[in-house]
Amino acid sequence: MAISADHIRQLHPFEIRILNTLERLMRTYAWVPLELIKKSTGLSESEVLFRLGRLMEMGMVRYDVVPYEGYSLIFAGYDTLALLSLTRKGTVSALGSQIGEGKESVVYEALGLGSVALKFHHVGQRSFQSVRLSREYLPEEGHCPWIFASRFSAEREHTALKKLYPRVRVPLPIDRNRNVVAMEFIHGVNMHRCHLQDPAFTMEAILTSVSLAYTLGVIHADLSEYNVMIDGDEVVLIDWPQWIAPDHPNAGEILARDVGNILRYFKRKYKIERDLATAIARVTG
Ligand SMILES: Nc1ncnc2c1ncn2[C@@H]1O[C@H](COP(=O)(O)OP(=O)(O)OP(=O)(O)O)[C@@H](O)[C@H]1O
Ligand SMILES: [Mg+2]
Repeated sequence: MAISADHIRQLHPFEIRILNTLERLMRTYAWVPLELIKKSTGLSESEVLFRLGRLMEMGMVRYDVVPYEGYSLIFAGYDTLALLSLTRKGTVSALGSQIGEGKESVVYEALGLGSVALKFHHVGQRSFQSVRLSREYLPEEGHCPWIFASRFSAEREHTALKKLYPRVRVPLPIDRNRNVVAMEFIHGVNMHRCHLQDPAFTMEAILTSVSLAYTLGVIHADLSEYNVMIDGDEVVLIDWPQWIAPDHPNAGEILARDVGNILRYFKRKYKIERDLATAIARVTG
């Protein structure tokens, strides 16, 4: 379920207290028993049950009896805690509409100091296996791998943006909380939706960015026409959580895939031929 500004505005302080309590207890419990929620929040059983009922209606909390009876935060609840923190800090003043949705994230426009893109990382149970395989470092955290993996993914992306901006044209990183990255909103269009005026120039601009990123210690690792945005004359590379460093054991292969994806796209759509080995040599300088 998507996050809803209306739901968040309507949250009662007891409901926020319960969300925070669940987050904390989920370091130890995948499903938090009612007794513990009562004890930790200091609320009566009827109050807790009423508040949990509302949180479940809003899609922020789930109840199950298998493997044992208890309550669990789900993405919308975790997203809400992140959004509340970003709002309290002043990074965000209003949530706008959803602008993107991928396999492992939802992106919203928001207001802060100017317009902000909020990327909510949702690395779920289903895809957890592949995350573990593709990312070098992923220690166990309690019983809730999706919380850890989603926060880790946001941290990774925020780190890449900080390394790259402003030398490479990427969204300005503004803030991060939990699984959410706040960054500059790019007023552009994804490249796969554009008809480029000067495709050769754009392709060179992309390769220049890839090369600069490489010298700054970052290989994108998920580069394609979908993760390039065109804003007038500017070429902006987005979507960095999967990045790897050039000393990664598979760096050569992964960089070749990134560059290959771009060359293939320009060949298919614009009939521009560029030799892969030469392009890679240019990137690695
Ligand atoms: N800073 C931004 N400004 C404007 N739009 C953005 C911004 N970041 C992302 N978007 C939009 O949201 C879409 C999804 O974002 P992004 O590519 O970062 O994640 P994703 O593709 O969902 O990730 P995944 O690879 O996990 O599926 C983008 O294709 C783009 O249209
Ligand atoms: Mg993407």
